[in-house]
Amino acid sequence: MALRLRVVPPRGPARGGAPLPLPRRRGVRQGAPGRLLRRDVPRWPRTSSGRPWPARKLREARSVASVMRLQFHDCFVNGCDGSVLMDPRPGMEGEKDSLSNINSLRSFDVVDEIKAALEDRCPGVVSCADIIVMAARDAVVLTGGPNWAVRLGRDDSLTASHNDSDNIMPSPRANASTLIRLFAGLNLSITDLVALSGSHSIGKARCFSIVFRLYNQSGSGQPDPNMDMAYRSALDTLCPQGGDEEVTGGLDATPRVFDNQYFKDLVALRGFLNSDQTLFSDDVRTQRVVKVFSSNQDAFFKAIVEGMVKMGEPTEPQDGGDTSQLSCRQLRAGGT
Ligand code: HEM
Repeated sequence: MALRLRVVPPRGPARGGAPLPLPRRRGVRQGAPGRLLRRDVPRWPRTSSGRPWPARKLREARSVASVMRLQFHDCFVNGCDGSVLMDPRPGMEGEKDSLSNINSLRSFDVVDEIKAALEDRCPGVVSCADIIVMAARDAVVLTGGPNWAVRLGRDDSLTASHNDSDNIMPSPRANASTLIRLFAGLNLSITDLVALSGSHSIGKARCFSIVFRLYNQSGSGQPDPNMDMAYRSALDTLCPQGGDEEVTGGLDATPRVFDNQYFKDLVALRGFLNSDQTLFSDDVRTQRVVKVFSSNQDAFFKAIVEGMVKMGEPTEPQDGGDTSQLSCRQLRAGGT
């Protein structure tokens, strides 16, 4: 089935649907200072059925989660600048092969497809960084989560740093205090941390990311004590010692539905990643928020919208940036 674009009105009740203030930027005509003109932005690609972009990708249900994750990995490393999408090139290792991304980040093809559709319709206007943030929002909507308005106007970076990604992105072994510190450094509160971790309401992770906690937590030679016995035995079966670490399991009990099941699982000591379970088991400040979200889905939805908006805040790329790339993977010929 070919992707056919058609003009449709925005769908669903977006929170904060008022005009969105934007910083001035190159490559986009500005109306009143700081505002992107409505006519400058092509309609977000939809299939001929009127469904948003990933509808045709739902054959692989997981790709929505994989696309949502791209916002985290893009925005944490030097701002939301599309750098996570850049392929390595001579003189630039890029972020794709960094510790947290290699063999793990996926569904770059979905972004390629959206970019191609937009370039076809409106060349050189919508940056790859903006595509990631809009697609992440759509991923949440498509799986049953809240809807919100996305500010546009991010520029794409001309470079991507392997080292910065290695130094910044958190490990699944991280504990609550490390995560609190990391997020605080990016102006994200404890509530933001817990809400954003609730993105693990959808998607999967590999045994690679949890074998240490099943068999050798903190070098103890023992499993993480903060695990429900029946759940641990299910994970032992999924991820036996010495087994295939590429095997995947759901990050919560309902990995295709965006809901607050993730928090209920943490309270029941059924968190998949150590970095998830630690939010309930190791710190009273994060535990308090986990408890609230486990019993109040609306509070979670409100907080994750705030967290996604804060994390997705447009910033100027360190290298000045560009918006006119034809592909999110490579610079246009002549780019530096
Ligand atoms: C708090 C720190 C976080 C850590 C340590 C972390 C770590 C991880 C790890 C290890 C995986 C599985 C990777 C694999 O096994 O290949 C994963 C998956 C995922 N993460 Fe996170 N994450 C964090 C926060 C976030 C945030 C803030 C978001 C989004 C806004 C996010 C979205 C996702 C999604 C949707 C998946 C599933 C992806 C898929 O199925 O392909 N994570 N995360």
